[in-house]
Amino acid sequence: MGHIYLVGMMGSGKSSVAQLLAQQLARPAIDLDQEIVTREGMSINQIFQERGETYFRGVETKVLKTCAAQTDAVIATGGGIVLLDENFAIMRATGTVFYLAAPIDELFEHVRGDTTRPLLKQADPKQALRDIFAAREARYKQADHIINTAGMRPRGIADAIMSVVKGSS
Ligand code: S3P
Repeated sequence: MGHIYLVGMMGSGKSSVAQLLAQQLARPAIDLDQEIVTREGMSINQIFQERGETYFRGVETKVLKTCAAQTDAVIATGGGIVLLDENFAIMRATGTVFYLAAPIDELFEHVRGDTTRPLLKQADPKQALRDIFAAREARYKQADHIINTAGMRPRGIADAIMSVVKGSS
């Protein structure tokens, strides 16, 4: 099935689930945000502040391409990866895309108080989360598989994805 790509909103658990899945499948886990930070030598906040979102998106696509060319891994993407059609095309061509679909209230519980996400540095971060979700939901739903994660912890989400992976291998 090639790479396993995890997409979804900030706070949907992509990074934790990627670690668990990678262990179960004995594959590397890759966190695209982490790769971006390493490549740029700056935090995500710094990149947004000093270079802007458009620059960040450019780096995100470059890093995605680099990782897509490596051996099969479990890849946790940043929440905005679905914004560019080009990114979706790369993911589809090199693997299977899983959307971790979670209710806004749960997403918010996971990101509240977090200062590392520039798009949530707003007077009303929950409303910001809602607005971002509204703008992206249709794109997330273009994933190959939608995992409804309501009420689930990372272990349960990883197990749900494993069932799909086993079923298709
Ligand atoms: C973003 C999500 C973040 C990070 C950046 C932008 C987004 O990743 O890439 O802050 O546009 O949703 P996580 O989804 O891992 O928080």
